[in-house]
Amino acid sequence: MISYAFAEEKTRMECLIVPLFEDKKPSTLVKELDEVFEGIFNEVVEMKDFEGKRGELSLLYTKDNATPRVLLVGLGKQKELTIRKYKQVIGAAVMNAQSKKMNRIGCVAITEGEKMWGAKKMGLETVVSIEVANYSFDTYKQKDAHVTPIKSVYIVGDLDTNKKKQWEKGIEEGQRIAAGVNMTRRLGNIPPHDMTPTYLAKEAENIGKEYKKVKVKVLSKPEIKKHKMGCLLGVAKGSEMEPKFIILEYKGTDKPTKPTVLVGKGITFDSGGLSLKPGAYMTDMKFDMLGAATVLGIFRAIAALGIKKHVVGLIASCENMPGPNAYRPDDILTAMNGKTVEVKNTDAEGRLVLADALSYASRYEPKEVIDFATLTGACLVALGNERSGLFSPEQKIVDKLISAANDTGEQLWHLPVGEEYSKAMDSLVADIKNTGGVGNPRFGGASTAAAFLQFFTDYPWAHIDLGSSYYSDKGRAWIRHGANGFGVQTLVDYLR
Ligand code: BES
Ligand code: MG
Ligand code: ZN
Repeated sequence: MISYAFAEEKTRMECLIVPLFEDKKPSTLVKELDEVFEGIFNEVVEMKDFEGKRGELSLLYTKDNATPRVLLVGLGKQKELTIRKYKQVIGAAVMNAQSKKMNRIGCVAITEGEKMWGAKKMGLETVVSIEVANYSFDTYKQKDAHVTPIKSVYIVGDLDTNKKKQWEKGIEEGQRIAAGVNMTRRLGNIPPHDMTPTYLAKEAENIGKEYKKVKVKVLSKPEIKKHKMGCLLGVAKGSEMEPKFIILEYKGTDKPTKPTVLVGKGITFDSGGLSLKPGAYMTDMKFDMLGAATVLGIFRAIAALGIKKHVVGLIASCENMPGPNAYRPDDILTAMNGKTVEVKNTDAEGRLVLADALSYASRYEPKEVIDFATLTGACLVALGNERSGLFSPEQKIVDKLISAANDTGEQLWHLPVGEEYSKAMDSLVADIKNTGGVGNPRFGGASTAAAFLQFFTDYPWAHIDLGSSYYSDKGRAWIRHGANGFGVQTLVDYLR
């Protein structure tokens, strides 16, 4: 746990992070600091060793006892600053400090940010970026290979009592949101021999134990059979691991309201099944449960924040393996809602397990259902790895989700569902088949997958394909390698 406080006159810190714009004179506060440090900011700026270009970093050594180091970080041009860029800059500065084994740091609050977004939002986003930067997946590494965790952060700013209060509120909320984001990342990073459907179910139950307002129920194989979830059972057949269907319900309000239902794909490893993936495409398929992990991260965050909404989470989890009892291409599975599905490719398994979860969602007469799934490689081909695909026939939900994503610095892009994609899923022998393309079997893969899901919805629905932006293999300057927790913060923003 990182502790946060406002810096006092003589607060000792190993390093003070000072964000500066490229095209703006330093604030009064920064000028005052520079006086304390005998003008070293001015010096490097005059020598043009630091220009404030976005992401630029410059570590300076002061003669000051309380603050022996200052890390100047460039924010770029003021007009171009967005929440996303701000978070990246702060995150990069924090990771830079960690790389020098520093764990007591300070950060100057930028007044321009407060003017643009308000003091509370500044506190919130500063903390989210610090906590996200601080996270590293090194539990499976030897002790000395661990990243230095940040222990204390001191906010340095020209803040009156009122602004301090807002900052404090933001800091608290930021910590709760970031705990959800980092939970999603942690679950995604755990190797697939440990990260099983049973493990996911335990993690859900732990949320239920920690937050009384979250009720958790886990369906095991016999109950999954009772509910006639034929698609989930079909996919699970090739694996030794027992499938789990996980139900979470958060009631943040006593008012009888229709819930928002969040659905997650929880394939704990996707080998492709009998339609086996080529070796190079099978690595990283431990992340195929990130839809489920996203739902869990959102639940942790909204329960910790105590938001006043009614939210249900549904997770369909199993492993997709080519074991002796595996389901086959040409099999016909029957989903919970009675629709029959011809299996053309056992690697299109995510849509199958989601078919049952989306069918199950109907019983809540939901206000809306939003599903999260690392569903297609086609989405990655379409968007590259820094945006997720958003599919929905409901313009209102689309607008609200995109605006929530903009608000938090995540990136969602609206892609189509529609008749031609639905048509592509026509089967000669069953109600629908599980693969198809428009014009060519390989065309429009992200949209045909979404169109497949749509067959199992009878309520307002949106689908987020995480297949494009769920992780980074090497990491970035502001976030380490592995799962990135995409979607958690956006959904918290959306639901509030
Ligand atoms: N889990 C994969 C999708 C995926 C691939 C996500 C790469 C992230 C990165 C999914 O189950 C899958 O295998 N989809 C197939 C569908 C195809 C067989 C129609 C794909 O995208 O190739
Ligand atoms: Mg697959
Ligand atoms: Zn998959």
